[in-house]
Parts: sequence; structure tokens; C-alpha cells
Amino acid sequence: MAHKVKAVIARSKGAPVELVEIDVPDPGPGEALIDIKACGVCHTDLHYREGAINDEFPFLLGHEASGIVEAVGEGVTDVAPGDFVILNWRAVCGECRSCKRGKPQICFNTHNATQKMTLDGVELSPALGIGAFAEKTLVHAGQATKVDPSVRPEVAGLIGCGVMAGLGAALNTGNVGRGDSVAVFGCGGVGDAAIEGARIAGASTIIAVDVDDTKLEWAKNFGATHTVNSTREDPIEAIRALTDGNGVDVAIEAVGLPVTYEQAFYARDLAGTVVLVGVPNPEMKIELPLIEVFGRGGSLKSSWYGDCLPSRDFPMLIDLYQQGRLNLDGFVSETIGIDAVEEAFHKMERGEVLRSVVVL
Ligand SMILES: NC(=O)c1ccc[n+]([C@@H]2O[C@H](COP(=O)([O-])OP(=O)(O)OC[C@H]3O[C@@H](n4cnc5c(N)ncnc54)[C@H](O)[C@@H]3O)[C@@H](O)[C@H]2O)c1
Ligand SMILES: [Zn+2]
Ligand SMILES: [Zn+2]
Repeated sequence: MAHKVKAVIARSKGAPVELVEIDVPDPGPGEALIDIKACGVCHTDLHYREGAINDEFPFLLGHEASGIVEAVGEGVTDVAPGDFVILNWRAVCGECRSCKRGKPQICFNTHNATQKMTLDGVELSPALGIGAFAEKTLVHAGQATKVDPSVRPEVAGLIGCGVMAGLGAALNTGNVGRGDSVAVFGCGGVGDAAIEGARIAGASTIIAVDVDDTKLEWAKNFGATHTVNSTREDPIEAIRALTDGNGVDVAIEAVGLPVTYEQAFYARDLAGTVVLVGVPNPEMKIELPLIEVFGRGGSLKSSWYGDCLPSRDFPMLIDLYQQGRLNLDGFVSETIGIDAVEEAFHKMERGEVLRSVVVL
């Protein structure tokens, strides 16, 4: 039996999103049907609707979510109806060349539901294989990570994308350590999570860079020790001035632009690390003198989903939150209805929110 549910789709490039009724199948083997409780609005959803990820319209948007398992298909043992779960976009396969070499966090063949959700018979492309601006969604059971149900759904869901991506960029990809200096370019939900990650790791200097003073003010709540508005001063010079003329050990780019990537590149110390978390569009290019790439040493890395392993990291982050060591509440700027996603995109573009969270 298919379920008819309300959901938010992007029908064509750049067009405003629409609230429609879609068909969600009952779970087949290995799948789980999730009753969505909350889903944050991530900038990646906006990238999808702008056509900056791929052309597979119509998209079923939303991917930063928590919910309750409503039903599971044949062979599913890890989760059961009634479980409170955070959805993830890294259901590892256990069989690809990366999983086999003991690195499931960079699995090359992650699972999604096999059956398709549809709109008037047309197959939908769920954002990041999830599609959670919907009353119910269908995922692979491995995409549902069970966590403590006492945490508010709108807070728990954030771990499913932006918070994990930012925290992991600092903790896992950037390997920030005690006493390190870190700069974060772009202080939205993802960048502020990177700041939070750097703080948890024990970084002593954490420099927030943004073009928006409000965002810089908020960044201090997550652990930024210094702020730089890059419309008023050269961020490379400012960062060097704050680090005895040297630059930072780890520079994290959380915008997705060539200009901020280059700033991150030049703002790091010798042998430092650049971590790219922001998602560029396919047309963007960077030009760097190869001698600088070589001469500065260190490493240039990309961070997908904070190199996380959901089964390991999601329950751990919930624990840190419950112990008061991880500020998740600070990311929830507002809770909204499922009919307010388009307006939430505009608020994001105007810089008014860190996260608008759809609550169902
Ligand atoms: N790698 C991953 O796994 C992953 C996961 C989630 C999101 N993302 C990406 O991370 C990026 C940030 O997402 P978000 O949800 O935090 O977005 P957001 O819109 O909330 O935040 C972006 C921030 O960048 C700032 N900014 C814009 N232009 C700037 C510039 N030139 N210099 C400095 N700051 C600038 C904005 O003022 C804003 O504060 C997006 O590209 C998103 O797609 C990546
Ligand atoms: Zn794998
Ligand atoms: Zn996201």
C-alpha cells in the first residue's frame, strides 16, 4: 500500500518549491518507512533547487531529519517500529573496496531505498537519498540511526547533516588538536558546527570569518575566540596578525566559493591543513600557483559529511549534548511548518537564520 503524504519538492531549476502530495511505498526488503518529526533547512537543499548539484528534477527536498520508524521491510533487524532515529546519508555497504579496507566512513557504495517515491507517477529524486520535508519518507534501513528518544526531534535532526558535517570537518578531517589555531570561513550552520568542533577538540585560537556581522556575533556563542568581517578587512592579513604572523594550523572553508577557498589556502601556516566543506557548483574553478601548493606543504582535503560513521558518531554526539558539552540548541533559530520552506530559503539567503527547522 502506498501512503499519500504532504511533501516539499523542487520541480525545476530555480523555481520556488511546492508543497504537494506524493506517494510513498511500504518498505520492501532492507527498507524502512519513517514518520518524520523534524527536518532542518540546509544550504544543500537550496543548492539542489538551484540545479547546482545535478539535473535530476523533480527533487524531494530535506535531508537533516529525525523521526520514528513506522514500518520496516523484510530482513531489517537494526531498527524496529517505534524507534527514534536520525536519518543519515551514509548507510555503509560493508563490501566496497573502502569498507573492506577498514574505512567504512568513506564507503563508495552507500545504500538508499530501492523503491521510488513518486509524484503523479513521476519518480522523485530524494535530496541526498533521503527526502525528509515530507510527513513520511522511505529510506534504506541503514540510513536510520537509533538514538535516545528523550532529545527534542528538532535538535536531534541537525546531527543528520549540517552539525555532523561541520563538527566532523574539524574533528575528523581536519584532525584539530589541543592548542591548535583554526580559522573557519562561513559561519552558517555548518561553519558554526566546525567552530564548535574546534572548541571541543581544544583549539586555543578559533577565528570566525564571514561577510555578515550578525553571523560573526553568533559564532562567538559556539566558541569563536576572534572574528573577522572579510568585507572590511583582508581575512588573510587579519588571520596572520592573530597568529604571530604565521597563519592557522587548520583552515576550514564552509561556504563553497573559490574566493573563500583561496583565502583559506593562504591563511594557513606552513604544513597546515585546508578542509573544504562548502559545496561548490560544477562551473567553479580555482587557480593556485603550484609552487605554493608544493612549497607550503601540509594537506588540502575535502570533507564529505565530516568523514562520519553514523552508527559511531550520532549516539556519541547525543551523549555530548546531554552532558551539556555540545551546544545544539543554539543552531535552532526557529521552528516552522512544512509550508514555509521557500520562505526559510529566503531567510537563509538574507542571513537571518542558522537553521530553520520544519517540525511535523
Ligand atoms: N561537505 C558536506 O558534507 C556538507 C554538508 C552540509 C552542507 N554543506 C555545504 O556547506 C555550505 C554551508 O552550508 P550552511 O547550511 O552552513 O549554509 P549557510 O547559508 O547557513 O551559511 C553560509 C555562510 O557563509 C557566509 N558567506 C557567504 N559568502 C561568504 C564569503 N564570501 N566569505 C565569508 N563568508 C561568506 C554567509 O554569510 C553564511 O553565514 C554549503 O555550501 C552547503 O552546501 C556541505
Ligand atoms: Zn562500502
Ligand atoms: Zn545538508
